[in-house]
Amino acid sequence: MARQYIVAGNWKMNGRLDMAQQLTASIVAAAPDSAKVILCVPYPYLTTVRDLCAKTSVALGAQNISEQKDGAFTGEVSGEMLRDCGVEYVLVGHSERRNVYGESDELVAEKFARATDAGLTPILCLGETLEERESDKTDLVVSRQLQAVVSRVGVGALATAVIAYEPVWAIGTGLTASPEQAQAVHAFIRAQLAQIDASIAEQATILYGGSVKADNAAALFAGPDIDGGLIGGASLDADSFLAICQATTKK
Ligand code: PGA
Repeated sequence: MARQYIVAGNWKMNGRLDMAQQLTASIVAAAPDSAKVILCVPYPYLTTVRDLCAKTSVALGAQNISEQKDGAFTGEVSGEMLRDCGVEYVLVGHSERRNVYGESDELVAEKFARATDAGLTPILCLGETLEERESDKTDLVVSRQLQAVVSRVGVGALATAVIAYEPVWAIGTGLTASPEQAQAVHAFIRAQLAQIDASIAEQATILYGGSVKADNAAALFAGPDIDGGLIGGASLDADSFLAICQATTKK
């Protein structure tokens, strides 16, 4: 079964209600069929964006999920609550959660498990810092982050999940991994999965993230193991984001 391209926008903590409405309306009006388009929006705007995406091919995503189910966890949002809001996808282990909020590999794995329990598709983010890359630890870090999830939920859960390789040094910096650098890590991730289960490795969707823009998307997406992108800054502008979505037709 051929893998489907996915382009996911991660708005992070940006925008206001009117921007969320306008941006969604513009994307919904022109999203191409060549990729599954997902909008990962701030919690308060989930239901507004859900309503604008209803009966379209654009899917709704959240940016975080609690590792808890229900209960006295002030400020947290559970997977079931996200489902209630019409969410289908959720980012887990984004590097800002790992590095700014100190989420460990084990916590990320727990969040992944909660997402699948709630019927959500996790988008598992992996990636090394600049220091780790410069000391040749990219493979080590990415495989450690991946193994934590495989140990918690089993490799089968990765068949339907989405993985996003996002080198931390490329996020929001304007520095992008070259298509060769990105492809090499994507192939490594797929090979790691193949060591456990070749058919799951073949099915797994692996996105690249980190300063993807309209002018570099096509070259990145041409990599045989690159199945689309997770887009931060450029997802806040409808024209840029749509141009990136359209770059998936060129593979
Ligand atoms: P960026 O962010 O496209 O702004 O680099 C990507 C991400 O953090 O998902």
